[in-house]
Amino acid sequence: MTAQSVILPLPSNHARFIVLNLKNLSIDALKEQLNDFFTTRDRLITQHPDAEIKTSVAFGPELWAKLYPQNPAGFKQLEPIQGSFTMPVVPADLLIHIASARTDICFALSQSFFDGIQDQVEVLDERVCFRYLDGRDLTGFIDGTENPQFPDDRGETALLGDDAGIFTDGSFVFAQRYVHNLESWKRLKVDAQEHVIGRTKLESIELDDDVKPENAHIARAVIEDDEGEELEILRHSLPYGDGQGEQGLFFIAYTKDLTRIDKMLLRMFGTSGDGIHDRLLHFVTAVDGAYFFAPNEDLLEEILDTE
Ligand code: HEM
Repeated sequence: MTAQSVILPLPSNHARFIVLNLKNLSIDALKEQLNDFFTTRDRLITQHPDAEIKTSVAFGPELWAKLYPQNPAGFKQLEPIQGSFTMPVVPADLLIHIASARTDICFALSQSFFDGIQDQVEVLDERVCFRYLDGRDLTGFIDGTENPQFPDDRGETALLGDDAGIFTDGSFVFAQRYVHNLESWKRLKVDAQEHVIGRTKLESIELDDDVKPENAHIARAVIEDDEGEELEILRHSLPYGDGQGEQGLFFIAYTKDLTRIDKMLLRMFGTSGDGIHDRLLHFVTAVDGAYFFAPNEDLLEEILDTE
C-alpha cells in the first residue's frame, strides 16, 4: 500500500494547510469535491513535473466514523491540557496538506478545492507557509535537525505497520498553529535563546547535558520507551506570517502512534508529573490543535468512491 504523497519526502519550500468543518456540505459532496481536487492535482503534476506537488488529506475522528465502519487502533481526539500553560483543542473534520516547490501551485490547489463550496464549509484555518532561510523557525533556530531524514526511517516513524491491515501505511496527524511573541523573544540574548531551545542557533548543535536546562524545548520534546530508545515523530512544520501581523509556526507531525504526541505535549505544557514545563511556551502560544487520520492511497480511493 502507498502512503499519501506528502508524508515521506523531505518538505518542499511552500505549503498550504486547510483545516475545516463540513457545516452544510454533505459527505457525498465532499467526496466529489476531493475527487475533483485530485484530478486537478494530477493535471498540475503532469504540466509541472518539477514542482514537487504533494498532498495529504486527513480526517478528524468524528467524520472518519461516518466515512468508514472501522477505526485504526489508537485513533482518538486530542485532549486539551490545563497545565502551566493552556493547550487548546479545536476539533476539525478535515485537514488538507498541500506542498510544492511553488507557492502559486499551492494556491491553485486550494482554489480548486474550495471551488463552489466556500459557503458550505466552516474554514477554521487556511495557512500559507514557507521554508524560511535555511530551514529555520521564525525564532531563528533550525527546525527539523533531529527529524528522521531517510525514507525508511521516516516511514518507520510515521506509517502504520503491516499489522494494521487495511490501515497499513496510513498515518495519524497532529496539527497545531502557534503564534510567536517575537518582540519578547528578540529581547533574549542569543545564548539565552539557545538555552530555551537546547541547541546552538547558528549550527543547531545540541547543548551538552551539563549546560542544557531541563526545561529546554528539546529536553521536553524528547521521549523514550522503557529501554531508553527514543520515540520519534515526523515533523513537517513550517513558518507563516505577515510582516506586520501574526507570525508563527504551523506545527504538523505525522506518527504511527498518537500516544507519542500525547506524552510530548504533557511534558511541554507541564502536566507530566515532574513539575517542569517547556520554556519555549513563554514565547509561543498554541491557538488550536486536533488529531486526524490520513489513510493510505488505496483506502482513500475506496472511501471517496461514490459509485
Ligand atoms: C512553536 C512551536 C515549536 C517550535 C518553534 C519548535 C522548534 C523546534 C526546534 C528549533 C527544534 C530543534 C531542532 C530539531 O531537532 O528540529 C525542535 C525539536 C523538536 N520538537 Fe519542536 N517546536 C515547536 C513545537 C513542538 C511541538 C508541539 C512538539 C511535539 C508535540 C515538538 C516536538 C519536537 C521534537 C520531537 C523535536 C526533536 C527533539 C530531538 O530529538 O532532539 N515541537 N523543535
